[in-house]
Amino acid sequence: MFKSSKVLTVYASHRSKIMRIFCKKMAEMQENQIPAGDVTKDEYLALFNQIVAAKQNSLNEMIKNLQAQVMADFEARTATLRSELGIINVFPAPPDSIVNKSIPYTDYTNKLIARVGHAFMTREVIHEVCNQITTHCAKTLTAEASEKAKKDFDLICNYSKRKKDNIPNTGTMYGKELCLYLMSKTFKKSAVDAYESYFAISDLVTSQTLANKDVFNVGSIGGGPGSDLVGSVAFIYDTLPLNKRASLKCQLTVFDIMDTNWKEAAIKPLNWGLYKYVRMDYDKQTDDRVHFEHIDFNKPETVDVEKLSKLDFITVCWALNEATFNEEFWTKVFQAASKAYILIVEGKEDKTDLLKTIADKLGRKVRYDRYENPRKLIILPQ
Ligand SMILES: C[S@@+](CC[C@H](N)C(=O)[O-])C[C@H]1O[C@@H](n2cnc3c(N)ncnc32)[C@H](O)[C@@H]1O
Repeated sequence: MFKSSKVLTVYASHRSKIMRIFCKKMAEMQENQIPAGDVTKDEYLALFNQIVAAKQNSLNEMIKNLQAQVMADFEARTATLRSELGIINVFPAPPDSIVNKSIPYTDYTNKLIARVGHAFMTREVIHEVCNQITTHCAKTLTAEASEKAKKDFDLICNYSKRKKDNIPNTGTMYGKELCLYLMSKTFKKSAVDAYESYFAISDLVTSQTLANKDVFNVGSIGGGPGSDLVGSVAFIYDTLPLNKRASLKCQLTVFDIMDTNWKEAAIKPLNWGLYKYVRMDYDKQTDDRVHFEHIDFNKPETVDVEKLSKLDFITVCWALNEATFNEEFWTKVFQAASKAYILIVEGKEDKTDLLKTIADKLGRKVRYDRYENPRKLIILPQ
């Protein structure tokens, strides 16, 4: 992570560099006498070419400077990591010692990547939807309901208590109030987690590959209010070439055990937040931008093979630990969704390890950030 004084130094040096380039270009422009009276077409074009060249130079300089600054910071941090690793001389080392070193380092590098991405990836879709979610929850969730929901959510998140009290399945706890509570607390985080997990495949899911697609079929399993689904839409939107964004076409589906409650809690703010971005392929009767379908991790028969087979992107975020692991269910999901990138985000690696084993058995290639928090397992299309 940048130290704040370092950030200031970087900005200050950028500013002075821009000013130097700007002043130089202004001086060049002034030296170049613009004729009095009417200008010929050639003179007219020459003037504009000069302006374009000046701006292009400034932009190039800025990008070079950004690269130099960011890579210098990255190399300094990496050198520190290497020297810290050098002093560990007790091997075999306990597995925790890997995570203790890797998590702060990958946190830093992930933030650096996100920071550079902010230059052109605005996360506009996430901001728009989150504004709607915040306003909606503030209007609909009372203080008493919030208090009660908090207790249920604390239990869901307390893995050791659930293990001790033998509560492996918590899906049916999502009553309407808990749905609103979770939306108010975690929507943005899940959307951003999903969005940033795409950075691991930004070499495969590029502006060019997306530009060639007409409709994006996107799903989220255990998707709750559509938070990680919105992260996927935001990534696609930000990655698409500018001229393709206005005609973004998406088919969006949340699959969840509590699909009815989640729909009731989230559909209005989703519709309002997404209407500018998901203009096509929505339900014209209800105006709904997101479909909600039932699925249960414990029941392989609830996997809709036909629907999953059409999906291009699937996210499964913060949901695996809410149910007993069912190998048959996940095998069926991976087999059905053979065309899809499947992004799994989870706090612990026990279930993501099991999913990786299933993917390996099916011959699916994966990318796995096992030593990061959250863990990110990405299964590539078959
Ligand atoms: C912590 S929430 C995460 C929601 C969303 N993915 C996010 O990150 O904001 C867990 C989700 O898993 C769903 N869930 C829990 N058990 C499930 C099951 N057996 N089958 C399908 N979904 C389940 C819940 O209804 C809830 O939507």
